[in-house]
Parts: sequence; C-alpha cells; structure tokens
Amino acid sequence: MSAPVDIRLTVNGQPREGRCEPRKLLVDFIREDLGLTGTHAGCEHGVCGACTIFYNGEAARSCIMFAVQADGAELLTVEGLAESDGKLHPMQQAFHEHHALQCGFCTPGMLIAALDYLKINPSPTEDEIRDAISAVLCRCTGYINIVKAVKAGAEAMRAAKS
Ligand code: FES
Ligand code: FES
Repeated sequence: MSAPVDIRLTVNGQPREGRCEPRKLLVDFIREDLGLTGTHAGCEHGVCGACTIFYNGEAARSCIMFAVQADGAELLTVEGLAESDGKLHPMQQAFHEHHALQCGFCTPGMLIAALDYLKINPSPTEDEIRDAISAVLCRCTGYINIVKAVKAGAEAMRAAKS
C-alpha cells in the first residue's frame, strides 16, 4: 500500500482538501471523501459517462483519473449546478419538466455533457443534441425526453441571457 497523499482542490466554488492513496480514482474521492454522491460510478472504465464532471471547465470522466491528478484543479459536480438558494439550473429544471430521468443514474453525466456542448453551440438541433450526449449512456433508454429537455434547457438559458 502506498503512502496517502494530500490533495487540495476547488469543488463547486469551495476549497476542499483530502488525503487518499495514490491509486484512488477521482470519482471515488468525490463520492467517498468529499461526500458528493451526485456523481455516479457506473462502468469505471470510461465508457458510460455517469461519472462526468467539469474538470477545469471541461467535461471529463472522473473514473479514468486518479484523485491525486486533480490536486490544484477546479471541479464542478452536479451539486454545484443549482444556485445557493436551491433554485435549479435551467437545464435541471428542463429535465424535471420534460420527465428526462427515470432511475436518474445517467442524469448528472447527461447534464454536464449537455452543458459542456452548449458552450460551443448554444442553439443546437435535436440531431446535434443526440451527438452531444452520445458519450453518456442511459440504461433506461429515455433518450427522447432527454433530447427534448436539453433543447428546452438551452432555450431557457438563451432567454436568461437576453
Ligand atoms: S463510470 Fe466513468 S465512464 Fe462509466
Ligand atoms: S434515467 Fe436511468 S440510466 Fe438514464
């Protein structure tokens, strides 16, 4: 067993620190050490996208990184999307209104993947949305409502900016 390593990082705008073995995956550190269980661990092989977070502003799979690699990084997890008063992010609200989740396992990854894509294309077509979220697998196969929700969430975000 290797000696534990100290990690300091910013998570959802707050400074956080922890101590873990060098082999610990970032997704496990987020869930177990930081207590942020909204980020899900599915395949743990970089395939399903359930563990997707924003890592220094870019969507990344937290199951194919070690926690120690995130030392000094800035992370945003699904818990950081809503406002501090609990008001949902427009994309979360759209998922709620369009019944875009069933078991909810894929939802945090879907939200992050969608928001990441909207940075480069704030007004996507349904086909573009399907491409954008194709890296996240929904076991409940609720893709129709997810696509509708992303389109509505994008519209709400555009309206909020105008
Ligand atoms: S848990 Fe990370 S991609 Fe599946
Ligand atoms: S809602 Fe169940 S995996 Fe997507």
